[in-house]
Amino acid sequence: MTKSINGFSKLSKAEKLEWLGETYADNAADFVQEMKSWQYADNSMQRVIDGFTENAVANFALPYSIAPNFLINGQVYAVPMVIEESSVVAAASSAAKFWLDRGGFHAEVIDTVKLGQVHFRWPGNPERLREIFQNLKPVLIESAEDLVANMKSRGGGITGIELIDFADVEPGYYQLRVSFQTCDSMGANFINSVLERFDQTLEAFFTDFEGINDEERDVEVIMSILSNYTPECAVRVWAECPISSFRELAIKQGMEAEMLAERFAMAVRIAQIDTYRATTHNKGIYNGIDAVVLATGNDFRAIEAGGHTFASRDGQYRSLSSCHISDGNFTFEMTVPLAMGTVGGLTALHPLAKRSLELLGHPSARELMCIAASVGLAQNFAAVRSLITTGIQKGHMKMHLTNILNHLEATEEEMTSALSHFEHQTVSFSAVRGYLEGLRETH
Ligand code: MEV
Repeated sequence: MTKSINGFSKLSKAEKLEWLGETYADNAADFVQEMKSWQYADNSMQRVIDGFTENAVANFALPYSIAPNFLINGQVYAVPMVIEESSVVAAASSAAKFWLDRGGFHAEVIDTVKLGQVHFRWPGNPERLREIFQNLKPVLIESAEDLVANMKSRGGGITGIELIDFADVEPGYYQLRVSFQTCDSMGANFINSVLERFDQTLEAFFTDFEGINDEERDVEVIMSILSNYTPECAVRVWAECPISSFRELAIKQGMEAEMLAERFAMAVRIAQIDTYRATTHNKGIYNGIDAVVLATGNDFRAIEAGGHTFASRDGQYRSLSSCHISDGNFTFEMTVPLAMGTVGGLTALHPLAKRSLELLGHPSARELMCIAASVGLAQNFAAVRSLITTGIQKGHMKMHLTNILNHLEATEEEMTSALSHFEHQTVSFSAVRGYLEGLRETH
């Protein structure tokens, strides 16, 4: 049977499922029945979700969790997080609680500049292009006035256009690097629309402008798109306390507070030095950030891409966070680019994204950036704290055990008994199954 198809997108959802079931599933009827069960009962809600992408055939469930007690800039938040990985929410909550009693997280937005680029080819020399650019720039701005008017009335818009010369590395290659303020929106559509208008304006300008000769008219736009590298749309976040306030935590690990703080600082320095460790360290930060980004209907791929580039800004990929110990004080901090929005896009469409913003007190984009950065730093704090003390498997294994028990349809009584049994035993699927079988036999 052929497995390819023409016109899949034109089929109704039921037809798509039927075709998939018959062509690819182990059992077509089971497959269709289960996939149909992953739908909102409310049809109008389902239509909203289906409208996000093409060829949607079901909804994919992920837990929507809450990390309470996040004290950020003097305000306590219960932060919604969407993530599938066990222990992440527990770790965030535990770090939030730890810092709640120690002044919480402090965060400040450095700036909210977003960038877009028009990449083009032009045969002349850079000096001449710089002269022409003086005439081109006002024409570009004027040509996008209708697109920018609304954003301008909200306090945003185009804040700069630079001509960048790459002709020495790629003959004839230049770039317009355009900066934007997009207020509370993430602004991707706005930026891309302006850039595409600039395409047209650029080509029309080189055709019509009287101040250039015929050889200079030969401009070719290659592409126009926003950049997900937003080093100037960034937040600085930090948490600080006297080292002595690690005492209780340290005692549990049989350590002095100073030793715990020192080990922590060294673990962070290792992630500054070594790229392999830095990647995992930063992954832990994005465990937190992405979960908030997803819960609030923002674009986690964009935010991660920008963050990882930022982590490599001096030529080596390094930890995003840093830790300082001086005069008996411990400071843990991070600067991270975060292009987030609280209006437009999915934030307005996704019913749970709307609820997330409601729970967070209808934040501005700047406030949401501070929240996401704090959760990222909290996550990093929790991960490094575990790594230098108990290791992370203890927390992971508890969730892993619950997942296995659910999979094996353990009753509540079996759950309680297994949780206590595996407190000091190695968790594996076969060990848990064996234990449950034993329990069931004795009953
Ligand atoms: C696991 O998802 C994240 C950690 O590996 C982060 C880290 O190692 O810092 C625990």
